[in-house]
Amino acid sequence: MAVPHLIRRGVSGGSPLHPLRGLLFASQEVGRRSLSSAAGDAADQLKGAREEVKQLLKATSCHPILVRLGWHDSGTYDKNITEWPKCGGANGSLRFDVELKHGANAGTVSLSLLIQPIKDKYSGVTYADLFQLASATAIEEAGGPKIPMVYGRVDVAAPEQCPPEGRLPAAGPPSPAEHLREVFYRMGLNDKEIVALSGAHTLGRARPERSGWGKPETKYTKNGPGAPGGQSWTSQWLKFDNSYFKDVKERRDEDLLVLPTDAVLFEDSSFKVYAEKYAVDQDAFFSDYAEAHAKLSNLGAKFDPPKGFSLN
Ligand code: HEM
Repeated sequence: MAVPHLIRRGVSGGSPLHPLRGLLFASQEVGRRSLSSAAGDAADQLKGAREEVKQLLKATSCHPILVRLGWHDSGTYDKNITEWPKCGGANGSLRFDVELKHGANAGTVSLSLLIQPIKDKYSGVTYADLFQLASATAIEEAGGPKIPMVYGRVDVAAPEQCPPEGRLPAAGPPSPAEHLREVFYRMGLNDKEIVALSGAHTLGRARPERSGWGKPETKYTKNGPGAPGGQSWTSQWLKFDNSYFKDVKERRDEDLLVLPTDAVLFEDSSFKVYAEKYAVDQDAFFSDYAEAHAKLSNLGAKFDPPKGFSLN
């Protein structure tokens, strides 16, 4: 697919489309009008962007990749670093080539290209908000819980502000439980949140040519939707429900994926309490997932206004 020049430049380092442009206009406006009315305008822009995301989801079934986009922007957060944006997190840094090229982000360039036309249309919405809006909307549109999201995230301005490589989890480390705790505790998340968030793998597929994980195709993926191929964790991999926990527990079908970091959720005694519960109680999963997802989406974020604002 030919990539329009403007779109390419919009996601790469040193973009002439200054990423803070919308924000600067917005902050000048604040001088003239009340803060609440500025937040109102931002909310209108976000609502417009949300409708566009819904159309994109309908047209391309890209729910899984949008969820992964939000997660990979926010999941770089390090709670031990107090300085913003050195701490990483939900700050829009994933739009820059330097971060898109991190090994864990293989395949995410296309994500930014999907999102860029929406950013161009609603330029007052920051990338950081747009990535998280897209992810939460994808969960909700796939049948998942309503996520109590807050908006107003500020973008980093330059590729130099991207986090170093290696902050996202690996799928096959020597000690999966230890590794998950090391990575997610660094983000300030706990065992319950690790298990709940892993349930996002109810959506999507792994592709050997991207991550090295998964089969080239299975009976569940050979006809798409979207680009065919890869291996999914669940049979209906565009539907958000608790089937991930059932399928990982039962391992009834070789066509379904179980990464070492998925399997350990039923092996580690602390993780297991939650994994077993979610396998039989979808309401409990949805409630814990919604809370954990909202927390994940706020990691390392700097909000303007300082407490952010919600959309109704
Ligand atoms: C617990 C540690 C995690 C590990 C080790 C992990 C690892 C992976 C791997 C290896 C893939 C396949 C990528 C590919 O081949 O294209 C993947 C896909 C995915 N991950 Fe995770 N992940 C983790 C946590 C999460 C979390 C917390 C979320 C969201 C809240 C998430 C959402 C997704 C989604 C939706 C996909 C499918 C993407 C697609 O279909 O294109 N993952 N993950």
